[in-house]
Amino acid sequence: MKYNRQLLELMCGIFGCIADDAAAMVLEGLRKLEYRGYDSAGLAAIFSPGDSSPIETEKTTGYVSELVSKVNGRFDGAKISIGHTRWATHGGVTDQNAHPHSSNDGNITIVHNGIIENSAELSNRLNNLGYSLSSETDTEVIVHLLDHEIKTQPDGLLILDAFCTVISKLRGSWALAAIVSGHEGILVSRSGAPLVIGRGEAGISVSSDVLPFYGACSEVAYMNDGDNFLLTTNGIVAQDDVEKPTFEALEGVYDEEDPGIFPHMMLKEIHDQPTSLSNVLSGRISADGVNAELSGFDLSPAEIRKLERINLVACGTAYYASEIISSYIRKFTCIRSEAFIASEFPAKSVCSQNTLTIGVSQSGETKDTLDALFEAKKYGSNVSSLCNVIGSTMSRMTGNGAYLHAGPEFAVASTKVFSNMVAAGLLFALTISDIPNLEKKKLVQDLRKLPNIISSQLIDADEAIEQAANLILENGPPIFIGRGGLSSYIAKEGALKMMEISYIPCISLPGGELKHGPIALITQGSPVVALVPSDSKLNLMETSIRECKSRGAKIILITDSEGPISELADILIQTTQTHPDLSPFTHIIPIQLLAYQVGVEKGVNVDRPRNLAKSVTVV
Ligand code: G6P
Repeated sequence: MKYNRQLLELMCGIFGCIADDAAAMVLEGLRKLEYRGYDSAGLAAIFSPGDSSPIETEKTTGYVSELVSKVNGRFDGAKISIGHTRWATHGGVTDQNAHPHSSNDGNITIVHNGIIENSAELSNRLNNLGYSLSSETDTEVIVHLLDHEIKTQPDGLLILDAFCTVISKLRGSWALAAIVSGHEGILVSRSGAPLVIGRGEAGISVSSDVLPFYGACSEVAYMNDGDNFLLTTNGIVAQDDVEKPTFEALEGVYDEEDPGIFPHMMLKEIHDQPTSLSNVLSGRISADGVNAELSGFDLSPAEIRKLERINLVACGTAYYASEIISSYIRKFTCIRSEAFIASEFPAKSVCSQNTLTIGVSQSGETKDTLDALFEAKKYGSNVSSLCNVIGSTMSRMTGNGAYLHAGPEFAVASTKVFSNMVAAGLLFALTISDIPNLEKKKLVQDLRKLPNIISSQLIDADEAIEQAANLILENGPPIFIGRGGLSSYIAKEGALKMMEISYIPCISLPGGELKHGPIALITQGSPVVALVPSDSKLNLMETSIRECKSRGAKIILITDSEGPISELADILIQTTQTHPDLSPFTHIIPIQLLAYQVGVEKGVNVDRPRNLAKSVTVV
């Protein structure tokens, strides 16, 4: 594995443990995993491992804090417990659909992330066996299958054998944890969704990621797809011919989700950017300040330069960052490069041995992106990744690439990681480029100044942002426009950010496209957010803005230009001048602040907007 672990970064929601106060640990673990899904939460617990009475459960729609209130200390002292935070896929957000799901006699209970694709077929089979399902979820079939298997398996077989038989009947993706009354231990299975086992003095635990293990476990073992185990206080039990995972020391420290002086994590993370940008640059620029040196890739820069093409695969914000990264690669090298929405990746057409496909992801767990990388590999492409979360599935699957070093990002809407993706991508493009040193030096010098520039911009912008937010709240959905690759991608990210946390439908497009249809949307007072860096497209942007203005639009102008373009602004948001290739960094800051401001004024929980999850581990 070539990834280098300079700093520790963290990034759906299962936690289970066997310990003296297991349920308390599960509630705390769920709190730390909540960013992965938060429409409902639940837990189950066994108080005395030998006891064969039904398992106690509690669940509720809403946040983990609501589960904690509902539990109200009732599970104190439980010895075995599993819990779940949900991001609904099958079935609405109701108490009934929340996990855990229990067998009809209450003796088995399970939590699940992922999707069981053949749940309808399994459900029919269960109905024929006399089982009735009480939820709309795809998950519930598993618990009844396990119940049937345990009750009908031949004498002499273990509970793990029954569990493995059930797993062999499932199709789709899952991370699963199950407990059975009268049995000591937690049954766990991974296939296509992450699960990590942790152990320490307090006991043994299983979690969707390592985040909850800090302070509770000293060692971790990453489960692989296909692994099915029974976790007990004495260690991991596997079926006879199956290899157990190896534990490694848990490195790093847990960074608490604490907004400090800021009212929300999102605002804190926007303000983290000077630091997070410093971190992604640190150690990746040559001592003489001329060259970028992003290491960690299997292929050397010389080998990459000989490739036919570089594909980038990503989703959401990471996709827009990837579009910018592809622009950089095209600009600084002669290699063809294109960014793809991971779920639309045409692997067969664009992958061969002479290509590199890079997954770009904050979490490193996004199923669509993992699937695209899998397809890329299938068609012979070299694969690597740009990820924020150390030890994530993507970084381990690709085994090479670079970490983003943005630190943990808790708010669902990505801010600082977007900037670090773009920065890491730029470093990558410069590392493999053979543009003249002078040109490179100028860009690299300005790149090094970026943390300071961003820091001053974060102090100056508030009043204009507030005015712009009010304009949008009063006059309706904004249109985001930019031109020339970099800015039109920032416009797309702006529209996504605004939709994610304000629920206002937004569109974004390159300025030149406006006149080919969307201009029909503009009426008196329509807000247009125009991104105008001082680059070669400035004059063309002026034309696009005039086209909007003459139809009554109100222009929120984000620009670093101090020239006459500013006269076209109804609200001017001035950014700091920098190298034109670095405009994404300076222009994304007001866009993030604007989305935040609109979200807060609308009363949205900006850190946990409805229907979203930080890490989407389903297709
Ligand atoms: C989800 C999140 C988006 C995020 C996307 C990619 O859809 O809601 O905010 O951009 O996943 O996540 P990743 O972890 O792969 O960057």
